[in-house]
Amino acid sequence: MTPANTSSPLIGAFDSGVGGLTVLDALRRRLPQAQFVYLGDVACAPYGEREPADVVDRCHRIVAHLASLGARLIVVACNTATVTAIAELRRRWPDLRFVGVEPGVKPAAMHSRSRRIAVMATPATAASPRLRDLIAKFANDVHVHVQPCPGLAALIEDGVHGGSALHATLAPLCDAIRRADVDTVVLGCTHYPFAADAIRALLGPQVTLVDTATAVAERVATVHSQTEGSLPGLRVISTGDSGAMALLLSRCHHLEQVTIERASI
Ligand code: DGL
Repeated sequence: MTPANTSSPLIGAFDSGVGGLTVLDALRRRLPQAQFVYLGDVACAPYGEREPADVVDRCHRIVAHLASLGARLIVVACNTATVTAIAELRRRWPDLRFVGVEPGVKPAAMHSRSRRIAVMATPATAASPRLRDLIAKFANDVHVHVQPCPGLAALIEDGVHGGSALHATLAPLCDAIRRADVDTVVLGCTHYPFAADAIRALLGPQVTLVDTATAVAERVATVHSQTEGSLPGLRVISTGDSGAMALLLSRCHHLEQVTIERASI
């Protein structure tokens, strides 16, 4: 297969909202000279509780927008969008290159000593055939507890990253994971790293959390052609109001001054 033309220095990345900022952070660390445009589809979050056809439609619209801005390499910085739509995106946009984010079943299975792992994911990802395939391919000799986490991404999207409301949502999910007696837990949604401290506090220090942002950034680095002399840059676009996005841009990216552009897509 011929690789798509990725000569444009602009890398697009998108998620249903703030979750992909965890991936953007890893991308900017790995490719400090690159130019990024990040789009959070805040108006339509959470994707994990929408119909798959809706998610596919949103992804096409967003990709069209990012391509119109000049992005030729697009990071689908969302597990739900990747498992639901990336195959369709690749078919419809053969001139673009896509890198997706999938739950880190493979690294978790490799890391687990007890051969018992859990995957925390949105209801859509948890129910997806793609997650079943990943488990069959990389963890067929491992016990895998799949934990759907309804409401968790929405809470994080609303700026709740600690405190009693987050605890109330997480506690029953983490109880179920504790009962499964695992030693490794996959954060299978890009929003969840923002709740990692609370998850760690509930699961205990013996459990390792696996997040794939760094691996995705490595993959992007292998397919991105850096243009000589290009200057680093970041545009951030949102399809709706998001206080959490401004907060997280300043907290994880130290970008207090970044202007969040609005787009109706
Ligand atoms: N951050 C996304 C993911 O990785 C989606 C969360 C959501 O919108 O439900 O699955």
